[in-house]
Amino acid sequence: MITVLDVHEKPIFESSYTVQGGNFDEAGKVASQIKVILKKLGLQTDVVRKAALVAYESEINIVSYARKGTINISITPQRVKIETIDEGHGIPDIELAMQEGYSTADAKIREMGFGAGMGLCNIKKFSDQFQITSEIGIGTHLKMIILIENGA
Ligand SMILES: Nc1ncnc2c1ncn2[C@@H]1O[C@H](COP(=O)(O)OP(=O)(O)O)[C@@H](O)[C@H]1O
Ligand SMILES: [Mg+2]
Repeated sequence: MITVLDVHEKPIFESSYTVQGGNFDEAGKVASQIKVILKKLGLQTDVVRKAALVAYESEINIVSYARKGTINISITPQRVKIETIDEGHGIPDIELAMQEGYSTADAKIREMGFGAGMGLCNIKKFSDQFQITSEIGIGTHLKMIILIENGA
């Protein structure tokens, strides 16, 4: 479980970002910043790619479906942890929302090129550990861990 990894090493980087729901002009900016940081830290390209994708898809979901949210990132030598907590309507059926191609995106979201229904399933696919919880009328909470392989 995620907590097992958390007890070990101190973060080499930690930060928190606020994301405004509905603000499509800014959508993806936090994920871009995270990508720059991961690259600067010299993490392996596949770790950077996976973490950037996970951050991007969860950021777009906050912009698309929540009032506002927070993205927390914490990096230790062992793993990148990305956590998103939003205030919003929540997800009534998580199993359904996780399915490839399932989307409730409206016309406005689709016009902007989002709403293919691949976000959550790709977040799961690219994370080594993934947790999702959601409460109707309260919001949604995602926890993703991408492991860093330290070569022998
Ligand atoms: N943070 C969230 N808050 C509320 N609903 C969400 C959130 N993230 C995802 N969803 C719901 O899950 C569905 C699937 O999400 P996703 O796989 O990212 O596809 P897409 O964003 O393209 O619709 C969304 O259409 C939406 O109904
Ligand atoms: Mg999405």
